[in-house]
Amino acid sequence: MSVERDMAAYYAQRAAYYERVYFKPERQTDLRTMEAWLPTQFAGRRVLEVACGTGWWTPHGARDALSWLATDLNPETMGVARSKVLPACVQFATVDAYGFQQIEGQSFDGAFAGCWWSHVPLARLPGWLALLHARLLPGSRVVVLDNSFVQTSNLPITRQDDEGNTYQMRTLDDGSAHEVLKNFPSREQALAMLGPRAHSPQWTAYGHYWVLSYLLN
Ligand SMILES: C[S@@+](CC[C@H](N)C(=O)[O-])C[C@H]1O[C@@H](n2cnc3c(N)ncnc32)[C@H](O)[C@@H]1O
Repeated sequence: MSVERDMAAYYAQRAAYYERVYFKPERQTDLRTMEAWLPTQFAGRRVLEVACGTGWWTPHGARDALSWLATDLNPETMGVARSKVLPACVQFATVDAYGFQQIEGQSFDGAFAGCWWSHVPLARLPGWLALLHARLLPGSRVVVLDNSFVQTSNLPITRQDDEGNTYQMRTLDDGSAHEVLKNFPSREQALAMLGPRAHSPQWTAYGHYWVLSYLLN
């Protein structure tokens, strides 16, 4: 299996208890701040959410949006999201984040991806961002957020490959061990990936997360 398929399978198995990470006491202050800020980014926009998972961010991002298409590859994770009370503008679709052409007949002027960037192999990131941007109208707002390096204090990096990707060994509740690709970009590394259409980037480093918001020409 590829690292991407391994990662998808790992999150399918973890779906039922994935949200434990959002109840860690030390993350609560960052989470409340980010949740309060997220709606301001997407008010009145038609938004594509990439890899929505269990939908932790969905109610916040979608709160004031015009429309919000929450997508993920795994029915297991999206099943948790679907069971939540969500703003009326939210719809779901099973979509591979490396295959946005699957989405037909919709245009977007916003995109959001929570804790997805870190799982994209570095060599694929510019191409993945180009694929995402190709689905977005000029003037679109893009927000990505992810774990800061502090996360490695619980889950140490176990190896680095020739392309610079870092990996962690993670254990699920059934005792199975999974090697997961997880990168921790600096502001400079992240901005260098964005490509020619991106402008006005705003990078915020919280204790436990980083957030990047930018616009597209
Ligand atoms: C770290 S979780 C992030 C979930 C959610 N966005 C959050 O921030 O809590 C990664 C998500 O990526 C999904 N995923 C894995 N491979 C995918 C792919 N190729 N296309 C779309 N989603 C994928 C998994 O099912 C999982 O829900």
